[in-house]
Amino acid sequence: MTVWPAIELGVNIDHVATVRQARYAKNSSSINVEPDPVEAALAAERGGAIGITAHLRQDRRHVVDSDIFRLKEAIGTKLNLEMGNSPEIVAIALKVLPADVCLVPESREEVTTEGGLDCISHRAALEPTLKSMRDAGIRVSLFIDPDPDQIATAASLGAPVVELHTGAYAEASGVARDEELARLMEAARLASEAGIQVNAGHGLNYVNVQPILTLPKLVELNIGHSIVSRSIFVGFEQATREMVECLRF
Ligand code: PXP
Repeated sequence: MTVWPAIELGVNIDHVATVRQARYAKNSSSINVEPDPVEAALAAERGGAIGITAHLRQDRRHVVDSDIFRLKEAIGTKLNLEMGNSPEIVAIALKVLPADVCLVPESREEVTTEGGLDCISHRAALEPTLKSMRDAGIRVSLFIDPDPDQIATAASLGAPVVELHTGAYAEASGVARDEELARLMEAARLASEAGIQVNAGHGLNYVNVQPILTLPKLVELNIGHSIVSRSIFVGFEQATREMVECLRF
């Protein structure tokens, strides 16, 4: 019998910061500021997360710079800094030195990350960032759509990891969802054949994650919104633990 290793869970704490900013964005020195994303990260670790993900957006709509520095200090697992490829945020990453950086596309209008990074058209801008991250010992993951051309470009850029965008899969139903799953399977196969670690994430929840576990050579899933949502009812540690349980085959 083949025993598959458990898929690892990275917990995205952005929306803990979203709740904080909803009340305290303009009054961050108030003595009442809550909830603290660092506290959520520590609870996620107790619940079995192997890493903590946070997206420092250019508009700082949820996570702010001090969160990233505090997370790096406080957590015992690894920090995965999600970020757009802008000089300001790259400079912060090189100061914080997270274990991982996940490069995502970013536009100010979007509610959440929409679509994967287009490595083909942004190749020239990605090359120096990948080099500076590599030189600093930071492992870079490219958040891309499950598209063979994007995988080939990620491979030619020397990216050690890709995170396959599962958003289209999560939004689809019926035959369309099966087709999205098939695209993800093929992309995972191509990436692993190219020697790239396969991660995935976006829009996954306690129900729709099951078929994703069948992606070939999948190592890590990054999940945020559904865990934060469930944590309202059961607490952050328990919400994480329940997702870790879901990731066991
Ligand atoms: N991975 C990436 C690259 C993302 O941008 C996001 C959303 O911030 C996630 C994973 C987590 O998505 P969700 O909050 O839908 O679980």
